[in-house]
Formats: sequence, structure tokens, C-alpha cells
Amino acid sequence: MPNMIFSRITGLGYYVPDKIVTNQDLTQMMDTTDEWIQERTGIRERRYFEYGKDTNASMATAASRQALQRAGLQPGDVDVIVYATITPDYFFPGSAFLMQRELGLETIPVFDIRQQCSGFVYALSLADQYIKSGMYKTALVVGSEIQSSWIDKSTAGRSTAVIFGDGAGAAVVQATSDPSRRIISTHLHADGRFAEELYVRDPGSSRPDRPVTQELLDSGGFNVHMNGNAVFKHAIQRFGEVIYEALKANNLTEKDLSLLVPHQANMRISEYVRQQMGLDPEQVINNIQRFGNTTAASIPIALTEAWEDGKLNDGDIICLAAFGSGFTWGSALIQW
Ligand code: COA
Repeated sequence: MPNMIFSRITGLGYYVPDKIVTNQDLTQMMDTTDEWIQERTGIRERRYFEYGKDTNASMATAASRQALQRAGLQPGDVDVIVYATITPDYFFPGSAFLMQRELGLETIPVFDIRQQCSGFVYALSLADQYIKSGMYKTALVVGSEIQSSWIDKSTAGRSTAVIFGDGAGAAVVQATSDPSRRIISTHLHADGRFAEELYVRDPGSSRPDRPVTQELLDSGGFNVHMNGNAVFKHAIQRFGEVIYEALKANNLTEKDLSLLVPHQANMRISEYVRQQMGLDPEQVINNIQRFGNTTAASIPIALTEAWEDGKLNDGDIICLAAFGSGFTWGSALIQW
């Protein structure tokens, strides 16, 4: 493959808030039990941001600084930021602008993308295409979420509130001419027919009145609405499909896979996918027990932990896979 440009992840980082919220802590806010949460989701605890200390953009900045340092780069080396979140600091502009400012990177382009739990895979795919096209050499790809201020922590919101947590993860993606260590391919999908199966309706613009009224607040439109059963059924199908799509596209099979880093949606979903694929438990990264579901941040946090634990070895074939609201789903196959 002479003169071809590829992209490669050269640095990873993550940041989670200090505040640990255990399942037991949640029982003080809503009618739930540690047993129910662990059995249905695998989650034992999650992190919640502290107002005045963390913001969506500050967490992303911390994760990005760590990723840059590990890549041996300075913030000024970054050509473009692709930032995935559904919980930005402002309604607009997006948090990518705030992180760009915090990193002191005046005038480089930034993208805010909202593809929910598939956000990081979508963001990585964008960065990969820009780098392969030759337009940019170094991209900062981040996922960052503050879910704890959106979720309804009363008993009415318990079926979603127990799942989500806060945190951020980042990857530095750089151009390389080495075909043996690169992002091999990415595969993205969406199906808007299921938009309302997992969504937050408000503040929406298609309203006869202002997007924020007392009536809308009282109607619960600002809360996460999730049809848990529908999400579960679609997720277990789409995860498998999009992982095999990536493998087949590259003439590989599950036997070639060293590691699967799934979006940390729910332990039961990951476990189902693992069993269907015949992978060993140590081949699938799970940290949902400690962090809950951090939406767009979950894959970069899990990938960073895998790297820190020495689970990413040169030449390994690694698959990232995600499914979430939209519905969206996607995968990225990487030769580490
Ligand atoms: N604590 C205690 N009881 C709870 C509860 C909680 N936090 N949340 C719901 N329940 C109750 C329900 O009220 C219901 O009670 P009922 O039978 O008296 O009506 C019962 O538990 C079962 O509820 P149900 O919603 O049918 O549970 P479930 O077995 O489907 O599990 C999910 C719910 C959300 C855990 C499950 O649907 C799921 O994992 N879905 C996928 C969600 C996901 O991964 N989302 C992220 C996508 S990116």
C-alpha cells in the first residue's frame, strides 16, 4: 500500500469525577435495591459530577490532556477536535468549543456530534476519514457526559436513573504510513424509526410555545424516556451484526479478535454478545460495574483502562462496538 495514509490511536486518557455513588446510595433517593440493579445491569457504582468542580468540557479537557501527554504531543499539535456528547454544557454552542478554549487552541475546527451511545465510534470514524483523506494529521476524539443532572432520581425515574453515570474519555488519532498499526475500518448505522424508544423530548423546538415552559417541565419531557425491553432486544441483535460486519469486511473471523471493547450499556447485553461470539470473558472489557453507562464516554474510558492494564498489545485486532439511542450502532476494527 505505497503512499497511503492511515490513522492510528497514539494516546488514550480518561477522567471520572471523584464522587462515587453506590447502589446503596441510590436507595436513599428512590425505591430500588442493590440486588435489583446488579442483577439487571451489573452496575455496583457510578460517578456523579460535583457542581462547581467539573463540567462536561473540563472532564473532556482532563481526559484529552492525559491522552496528548501519552502520545507525546502538546495541545498545539492538534488539528481538529471531534467531540461526542448528548449532555453539553450549553444548549449551544457545543462543549467542543469550550474544550478548544480550555486547551488554548484558537481557530482549529471543532465538531460537536450527538450520536448518543454510539457517539465515540461515530467521532472516531469521522477523524479516521479526515486523516486518511490527508486533510488533517492529528485529531482529538472525545466522549464526555454529565448524565447525573438529567436523570430523574426519584422512584418515577428509577428504571433509567440507576443505569447512567458521568465521565469522559479521549483518544489522540494521528496519521501514519504503517499499515500494520491502524484503524482498519469503521462501520456506522442508524435507524430513526426507533427515535422515541430512548430519548429526551425537551427542550425541543417544534412547540407552539417556548421550548421551556412549566407545563413541559411538569409533563416529564426533560427526563430520559426508555423502553428498556425494546432497547435490549435491538441492542443484542445490532451489536453482533456490526461486529461481524467489521470482521467480514476485512476477511477476518471472531477467532482473529483479541479484544472486544463494547459500549458499556448493560452487563447483560455485553455478556450475551460475548457468549454468542464464543469469546472468553477476558476478551471482553467490562467496567460498567464501577462507572455505570457513561454514554459517549464509555468506550474511550474502557479502552483507556484496557491500555493501562496492558491488554492492548502491538498487532492485536481489537473491535470497538456501540449501540444506543437513535437507534444508532457502529463498530471500529483496529490493529493495535
Ligand atoms: N429498582 C427496582 N425495581 C425496578 C427498578 C429499579 N431501579 N426499575 C424498574 N423496576 C421494576 C419495574 O417497575 C417493574 O416492576 P413491576 O413488575 O412491578 O411493574 C420491574 O422492575 C421490571 O421492570 P422491567 O422494566 O420489565 O425490567 P427489566 O427486566 O426489563 O429491566 C432494564 C429493565 C432497563 C434493566 C432492561 O430493560 C434493560 O437492561 N434494557 C436495556 C437498557 C440499556 O441497556 N440501556 C442503555 C442503552 S445504550
